[in-house]
Amino acid sequence: MTVCEYRPGLEDIPAAQSSISHVDGQKGILEYRGIRIEELAEKSTFLETAFLLIWGYLPNRHELAAFQSEVLNSRRIKYRIRDMMKCFPESGHPMDALQASAAALGLFYSRRDLHNPIYIRDSVVRLMATIPTMVAAFQLMRKGDDPVKPRDDLGYSANFLYMLNEKEPDPLAARIFDVCLILHVEHSMNASTFSARVTASTLTDPYAVVASAVGTLAGPLHGGANEEVIEMLEKIGSVENVRPFVEDALHRKAKIMGFGHRVYKVKDPRATILQNLAVQLFDKFGYDKYYEIAVELERVMAEKVGNKGIYPNVDFYSGLVYRKMGIPTDLFTPIFAIARVAGWLAHWKEQLAENRIFRPTQVYNGEHGVAYTPINQR
Ligand code: CMC
Repeated sequence: MTVCEYRPGLEDIPAAQSSISHVDGQKGILEYRGIRIEELAEKSTFLETAFLLIWGYLPNRHELAAFQSEVLNSRRIKYRIRDMMKCFPESGHPMDALQASAAALGLFYSRRDLHNPIYIRDSVVRLMATIPTMVAAFQLMRKGDDPVKPRDDLGYSANFLYMLNEKEPDPLAARIFDVCLILHVEHSMNASTFSARVTASTLTDPYAVVASAVGTLAGPLHGGANEEVIEMLEKIGSVENVRPFVEDALHRKAKIMGFGHRVYKVKDPRATILQNLAVQLFDKFGYDKYYEIAVELERVMAEKVGNKGIYPNVDFYSGLVYRKMGIPTDLFTPIFAIARVAGWLAHWKEQLAENRIFRPTQVYNGEHGVAYTPINQR
């Protein structure tokens, strides 16, 4: 076997063979099971796209209806999970609450029947159905309110917005939210998916797989960047401040949030779609001054670092969309997780199909043969 050179961040090193999604970072193309993201964003729904990713084909009418009804009927969470969440500190980050709650599901459904298709299906449905309920429940409980029960007459996205805001959402907002979930559902071998596959490879239960992926998604270099984009736009404050802000940040070698990507060297296609969605929302519900700042930031960044292939990524415009829907900033990453859970589960299934435990090597650069020093001589 040839020994590979060490590459920090495993850049360009394949960690799995996968047929779930493909990114062409030079052309700015993203496909789920071979279908372009633009087409899915226009014609599909989140649950249909999730089915496509997890089971590998577009469902027929009957299969889709069955999947939808299973998910919609599994959205309630156990009162013991709710009680556990009530004990979480309200100042805690909702991603930490979600990670703990996803892991807690494993306490109730810990059987690891990984060769049983019914166990796989039930786990997929349960995780996809309950994660939005847990995110919304924590949001209400930290404000001192009781969680709202899911409504059987509302679809996946409309119901989440209803549970969050305690009122039925505008249909345009619900459809745009559903498209946001489609755009975030899957993205090849990113950090949280890698984390999910490593955990899956030990043959643990899917709740542990999802909990470890949620923890990985939370960081500011990954899903957490969408929160930081809004904080950055607020800090910049005006279009005039954009250029000095960028110049100062680049001079200090600081990262500008929502820009750059390991794979994309052009604008992320998801950012283009999200920008259009933001504009649709502004047209209907009013303008957001931070949008103008964001557009100027994109322009100045293209001028300064476009030649290095640093362009807006998925996190750049998503926050502006969620802000317009009245969603608190620290829920942006949990919403990313609501979508991405379907991608993680598709990778869980794929990993199980041809599993071998992950056990990479390392380049040891420490000492050898060091003598033990007794404690009183140190
Ligand atoms: N602002 C300024 N410079 C940047 C940025 C940025 N956002 N991103 C990369 N660079 C520069 C970096 O300074 C480095 O320059 P040099 O070669 O002169 O040292 C070069 O580009 C390569 O950067 P890197 O950090 O080595 O690239 P990476 O592939 O390891 O990291 C990244 C990719 C996404 C973590 C990084 O671009 C970044 O930190 N971006 C800001 C955080 C962010 O928006 N994250 C969301 C990622 S997309 C969605 C997701 O995965 O959740």
